Formats: sequence, C-alpha cells, structure tokens
Amino acid sequence: MSLSEVRESQWSQLTELIAERMGLHFPRERWGDLQRGLAGAAQELGFEDAAACVTCLLSAPPTKAQLQVLASHLTIGESYFFRDRQTLEAFADNILPELIRARRGRDQRLRIWSAACCTGEEPYSLAILLHQRLPDLREWHVTITATDINSRFLHKAAAGTYGEWSFRNAPAGLKERYFNRTADGRFAIVPLSSSR
Ligand SMILES: C[S@@+](CC[C@H](N)C(=O)[O-])C[C@H]1O[C@@H](n2cnc3c(N)ncnc32)[C@H](O)[C@@H]1O
Repeated sequence: MSLSEVRESQWSQLTELIAERMGLHFPRERWGDLQRGLAGAAQELGFEDAAACVTCLLSAPPTKAQLQVLASHLTIGESYFFRDRQTLEAFADNILPELIRARRGRDQRLRIWSAACCTGEEPYSLAILLHQRLPDLREWHVTITATDINSRFLHKAAAGTYGEWSFRNAPAGLKERYFNRTADGRFAIVPLSSSR
C-alpha cells in the first residue's frame, strides 16, 4: 500500500491525533511536510511503508516511543544564537530590569522557561544575556528551564557544542567570550563558573 492510498479522512484523523497528542499543527497546505516526515518516521519505526505506519497510528493509541520518533521527524530545528534579537532586547531592556528591581534584596530568584528550546541556542542566549546584564549574577538563584518536544534536539542542547552556522546572528565577540573551540573546530559553551 503506498502513501497515495491513504485516504483523505485518514490524513485528517492523523492531523487531529498529532495536534492533540503533540501540539503540532498541520493544516492542509502543510500535508506535504507531514507526509515527508511520516515517511522518515515509518522507516525508523520499522514499518513496511508510510501507509502501514498511518494505519497503525490510527488503530491504537501511539506509544511514547512512537510519539518521540514522530516528533523528531515532524519538527523544524531552526535555531541560532540571538535568533529573535528584538524579543531578546525587549526582554533585556524592559522585562529583566523590572524583575531585577522587584527581587533585588529579597529572594533574588529568577526563573526563565525556554519552552521550545530546540538545540539550546535560545536558552544559552538567555544565560549570556543574564551574565551581561546582572553583574552580581552569582548572588542570584537563576534557573533557565529548557524544554522541547524533540528529544534529539534536547540531547544536542545538553551537549552545548555548536558549529559556525549557529552564530550567524550572534553579536560580535560572543563566540570568543563564551565558547571554547573544540578539537574538531566546533564551539563548546563555557560553564559559568569559568566564564571569562
Ligand atoms: C523553529 S524552532 C525555534 C527554536 C527557538 N525557540 C529559537 O527561537 O531559536 C521551533 C522549536 O519548537 C519545537 N516545538 C514545536 N512544537 C512544540 C511543542 N508542541 N512542544 C514543545 N516544543 C515544540 C520544535 O521541536 C523546535 O525545536
């Protein structure tokens, strides 16, 4: 059975399932992306073809492992340091000073959530911003929680090592100040305890 034999109603059911279980939205104009992602997921999950994968997913609630594989094929990993400059600047110039003012001398606690952190460039950008804007950072309890639906992206985020392409929008000097060059020419984030 080929993908073209998957009925329209099955695609609709699948998009509903994916939206409900994973929060990923595939309107009809993105069904091409869905089909491409599904073909990759089907192969990784060991199905004979993508159509068999669709039938299986619709016949019983997907397992956690199946959802993880689906997420890794259906998400887009576009991320780089200081990607959304305007938002980060608004955070640094308008939101952060107010939070610091309100909490300084009290519990000195900041908790930040990067809710779709991809491979980590966003939460590390936030950490760097805090390091730059909070001279007494060591006196604060700061938590940056980074989550993503794609567990492969999270593994890369935890590794904290990046290629040149991740710095395409980074402020000058960022790489030199906050990263160490690795033997294979990549850049590893420097832990705060030894940041320069
Ligand atoms: C285009 S990237 C943006 C990454 C980062 N926020 C940035 O701006 O650099 C989108 C990320 O959202 C994640 N994502 C999409 N839907 C999600 C969901 N429902 N829950 C958690 N993460 C999700 C994807 O896995 C991907 O890593």
